[in-house]
Amino acid sequence: MPRTRTLAVHPAAPDPAALAEAAAVVRAGGLVAFATETVYGLGADATRAEAVQRIFEAKGRPPDNPLIVHAADVAMARRYAAAWPAAAERLAELWPGPLTIVVPKADLVPSITSAGLPTVGLRVPLPAVARGLVAAAGVALAAPSANRSEHVSPTRAEHVLADLDGRIDLVLDSGPTTRGIESTVIDVSEAVPRLLRPGPVSVAELEAWLGRPIEAPAHAGPARSPGQRARHYAPRTPALRVCSLAELEALAPGPDDVVLVLGHPGAAPHPSTRAIDLPDPESAARRLYDVLRACDGLAPRRILVLMPPDAPAWHAVHDRLRRATVPG
Ligand code: TXA
Ligand code: MG
Repeated sequence: MPRTRTLAVHPAAPDPAALAEAAAVVRAGGLVAFATETVYGLGADATRAEAVQRIFEAKGRPPDNPLIVHAADVAMARRYAAAWPAAAERLAELWPGPLTIVVPKADLVPSITSAGLPTVGLRVPLPAVARGLVAAAGVALAAPSANRSEHVSPTRAEHVLADLDGRIDLVLDSGPTTRGIESTVIDVSEAVPRLLRPGPVSVAELEAWLGRPIEAPAHAGPARSPGQRARHYAPRTPALRVCSLAELEALAPGPDDVVLVLGHPGAAPHPSTRAIDLPDPESAARRLYDVLRACDGLAPRRILVLMPPDAPAWHAVHDRLRRATVPG
């Protein structure tokens, strides 16, 4: 494939001509990367098996990992569901937003999109670019994060090109994403709602919205969310995690290491080390993947991560860091 084309678009008011051009690529069975509020997605017509197949090939993604289907609004999303439980109806009030709702899938969704599962993950993203593209295409877009499989998710168009240049048709560059980590995934296809992936919409918010407790991901297991492998989102540099400053010092950080400090305001690692401080959960989420990619770019010996507190506000960032690192 020739080099990937990039079209710059305004994040709040994208040029309709650019969206029409990208939509034409989708309708021709091609691949278009676009920004959601979480990360950049790699989109294709969710209803065409051969287009979706190209997503798996471009990413090197294992075929047992289902794709999220992105719709322009709730009415469109419902067309891709075979059933719409009351819980889905409640949670859809959080759309557009960083929430994926797993429901029984309609026949319109080919089994390659859902990795053979009888369910489909649906989401209505917030940005004008994402919803405008879906609306212009007239069909929902299957879109995983636009990175090579197992690598760090992309929060900028440059990240997409670093992983996928020449492997996809087009990138709509609308600048950095605002939330920075992938959507919360909740399964409401069975009687008890289950969290499959923590994300920007918290468990407390989901429970308040549903008026009932939800099951934690630990109970969900790999069968219900095959994409949730332990190792994921990983930088290329060996990355070790510790939970206290004392454990960090025990690893003897040196000038050839990079230290990431999350949620420990005022903690000072050894002055001779390069340290990046991410004190609050929202900005840590927004910057996390960019920082991990930048760390790889510095080619350090190790990335040493001082983990944030195990508190609800840090739940999603904690989850991603556990997958990106090994215990130090
Ligand atoms: O924020 C996001 O969700 C981004 C943007 C692009 O929307 N997308 C994203 O896609 O993170 P991906 O493919 O990297 O992660 C999707 C995950 C899968 O790994 C799987 O765990 C879960 O969503 N998933 C999707 N469909 C599912 C289904 N039918 N049943 C269970 N889990 C599902
Ligand atoms: Mg991903």
